[in-house]
Amino acid sequence: MKTDVLIIGAGAAGLMCAIAAGQRGRHVLVVDHANKVGKKILMSGGGRCNFTNLGVTPAQYLSANPHFATSALARYTPWDFIALVEKHRIAYHEKELGQLFCDDSSKLIVRMLLDECAAAGVSVEANCGVQRVRKTPEGFSVHTARGEVHAASLVVASGGLSIPSMGASGFGYELARQFGHAVLPTRAGLVPLTLSGKHQEHYRDLAGVALPLVETRVGKRGFRAGLLFTHRGLSGPAILQISSYWQPGADLRIDLLPDQDAGDWLIGQRHARPLAELKTVLGDALPKRLAQRLCEQWLDSRPMRQYREAELSQIGAQLKSWPVTASGTEGYRTAEVTLGGVDTDGLSSTTMQSKLVRGLYFIGEVVDVTGWLGGYNFQWAWASGRAAGEVA
Ligand code: FDA
Repeated sequence: MKTDVLIIGAGAAGLMCAIAAGQRGRHVLVVDHANKVGKKILMSGGGRCNFTNLGVTPAQYLSANPHFATSALARYTPWDFIALVEKHRIAYHEKELGQLFCDDSSKLIVRMLLDECAAAGVSVEANCGVQRVRKTPEGFSVHTARGEVHAASLVVASGGLSIPSMGASGFGYELARQFGHAVLPTRAGLVPLTLSGKHQEHYRDLAGVALPLVETRVGKRGFRAGLLFTHRGLSGPAILQISSYWQPGADLRIDLLPDQDAGDWLIGQRHARPLAELKTVLGDALPKRLAQRLCEQWLDSRPMRQYREAELSQIGAQLKSWPVTASGTEGYRTAEVTLGGVDTDGLSSTTMQSKLVRGLYFIGEVVDVTGWLGGYNFQWAWASGRAAGEVA
């Protein structure tokens, strides 16, 4: 079989690329080895797909080349995707921090993308894995589960390694290496952190305890959001965000009272409640079980009048910089994204085309561009897919 453009991966980036190429009159085939297309879109945002973020800028992306995403993000903006969502009459709302979610279901986003594919004459085949790819003088010869496909352009949209049970594979990285591209080391991002040994023992039974607002910090990077204790460690948006910046051995600190001068507050409490114990006072600002555990493990607890002001200032400083010794992450099993991937040095930032092999493109998560939590990763998938689809 012959086609102009063959796209490997019917996820967010692949389908968006297919629509753009199809609308230009190109004959497009999208193949995916999973039994259903757009599986990550379906499970995203708790089933409501956080499909973009109104505040997208290149600063919310991690990459060895922080400027690489600029061009594609500027040419296909959140407003372009919102226009598509509105054209299909999909109701949506802003949850917080510019994050846009469907009112009803992520299924509507997949339906919208497939309807646009159909309107642009694109063929989409699920249950169709790719075994081998060969370069030919005319383009590429690709051995798929449905036979040999000859394509002038080949777009690799096979995603990262996160959630293997959803069809994730390292195929895109292998293909990149096959054609001489560098692949930067990959690791799980937007992922819960684990504790081990005594650190895990001290906090394990707090599983389920949540703090609505903390600030997690690694070096100069900080995120203000919620935190959740789990059986194995820590999760919640503030942890997922900082996990992309955390590496083993990194100094992770958590400000447990980000909106307060904790030292001044404790000194005020000493005057107001001299007989109350520290753990009782802290239990008014933090979940009670956490306040108690922090006092047992780290701070000790006496009636407030027994503390000198300097001691309370010191305790306040400790609460604003709680050192957490994470032992690792939950890994690709639960990670939302894969950091690293196909080195952007080998790609054009305007078209996503390989600088080494004409007609070969890499888009979406397989590329070394990873967004923060909050709709940024889909926006990169849409924007990079569009950039390639306009030229492939
Ligand atoms: P994606 O992974 O979507 O698609 C790749 C496709 O390639 C898959 O369909 C796969 O089956 C296929 N494939 C792989 N290997 C293949 C092979 N050898 N042959 C054929 N096909 C192959 N982001 C966001 O912005 N907002 C959100 O709400 C969420 N929520 C979220 C929840 C969960 C649980 C996860 C795991 C992730 C998110 N994300 C997110 C991240 C987001 O889903 C992700 O960044 C994009 O789906 C990436 O789009 P791609 O098209 O690049 O890869």
